[in-house]
Amino acid sequence: MAINKQEHAQWSSSFGFVLAAVGSAVGLGNIWKFPYMVGESGGSAFVIAYLFCIALVGFPILVAEWLIGRRGQKNPVNTFVDVATSEGKSRSWGIIGASGILGGFLILSFYSVIGGWALNYVTKIATGQFVGQDSDAVGATFDAMLASAGTLTIWHTVFMFFTAVIVGIGVTSGIERTAKILMPLLGLILFVIVGYNVMNGGFGEAVAYLFTPDLSKLTEDVMIAALGHAFFTLSIGMGIMVAYGSYLGREVNLLKTARTVVILDTVIALAAGLAIFPIIFSNGLDPASGPGLIFVSLPIAFGSMGAGTIIGTLFFLLITFAAVTSAISLLEPTVEFLEERTSMSRTVATIVSSTIIWLLGIAALLSFNLWSDVTILDNNIFDALDKLTSKFILPLTGLAAIIFLAWRMDQRSIQQELGLSNGAFQIWQIVAKFVAPIAVVVVFVNALI
Ligand code: PFF
Repeated sequence: MAINKQEHAQWSSSFGFVLAAVGSAVGLGNIWKFPYMVGESGGSAFVIAYLFCIALVGFPILVAEWLIGRRGQKNPVNTFVDVATSEGKSRSWGIIGASGILGGFLILSFYSVIGGWALNYVTKIATGQFVGQDSDAVGATFDAMLASAGTLTIWHTVFMFFTAVIVGIGVTSGIERTAKILMPLLGLILFVIVGYNVMNGGFGEAVAYLFTPDLSKLTEDVMIAALGHAFFTLSIGMGIMVAYGSYLGREVNLLKTARTVVILDTVIALAAGLAIFPIIFSNGLDPASGPGLIFVSLPIAFGSMGAGTIIGTLFFLLITFAAVTSAISLLEPTVEFLEERTSMSRTVATIVSSTIIWLLGIAALLSFNLWSDVTILDNNIFDALDKLTSKFILPLTGLAAIIFLAWRMDQRSIQQELGLSNGAFQIWQIVAKFVAPIAVVVVFVNALI
């Protein structure tokens, strides 16, 4: 979505908008991160906490970000400054926009590393490397990739290069239109894998693992992980949805659109869980094995199912595509910001920002090999980037956005804009004023003490 400085363009239809929002929301967070976080947190406790956070925190904040963006019609920093000033409030609300830009910057550095893994797996599966391999051999292939800083660097570079070229030449909307075809295909293949699992064992165990409530495992760590992931997966707390909202026409119904995006995003994540955990259980793998989870499980299925090479190649290609559409949305705000605030052209702004992100990504990927001993507060660089963004920057930025909307803006005009009756608006206000902010604060304070 190229920005036009004079006339701020608008989405021609709400469908185009949904595509862009889904393109940003659905990505590695759903297919790579969600399953391994479930595994690390012991299953259903995480799933349940996550669903609560999505409904009661993520959904209202998504609506808040779009609404603020639509009012402001500018980049996130200027939007917060403008909307705050027009409501007679301090300009320092602009910091929310700035922290979002920083969040996008940091996330993309490690996101690109994983996008690189997915690309590497396209080539591995396409060349039949996993055909007939057992889980040990598949695991060894993954470990060998992680141990090679050179391999990781090459694929991270390719991923980052693609993303930068798309943003640099401003064809992001074309990519989003392609998403119209490719995203449903991704969903379809996920369901094919789920179907394969139903026939091949481990399915019942996976369903029980994911959905049988086990509140004893609902610890503070699990809560904060689930909360952070709700932000990550919906692309909120980062100013991206504020920026998207600024292109939104008046006629678009925010609540309905948010419902569509949230449901699609959640269904894809849950389907990814049902695609992966049966393979984990039927092969005796460890669900808590961390970020490699999809890479050590799915290839086993592709190596043994009929047409597995084709389906597997296509699947990892589609994951890469979903990752690119999310990565675009992570890079675009920084580029737009530099373009609007400095004398840099779009090309220069893209080259400068993506080079810095790329360098940070190299530091992140070295955590898996040469720099595995380098730690920041007990976390390697990769984990530190992940935790700093998901557990701090995103929830705090999102918190500020919802507080701003619910406590600092004129509520009557919001009711009109959301098209809610008095009764429904009261429910909205309870959630936006109390439930969502208090949930973030409580989870946060608990995690800190
Ligand atoms: N929501 C994306 C995913 O789930 O993969 C990741 C992401 C994109 C996070 C854009 C944040 C963001 F602003």
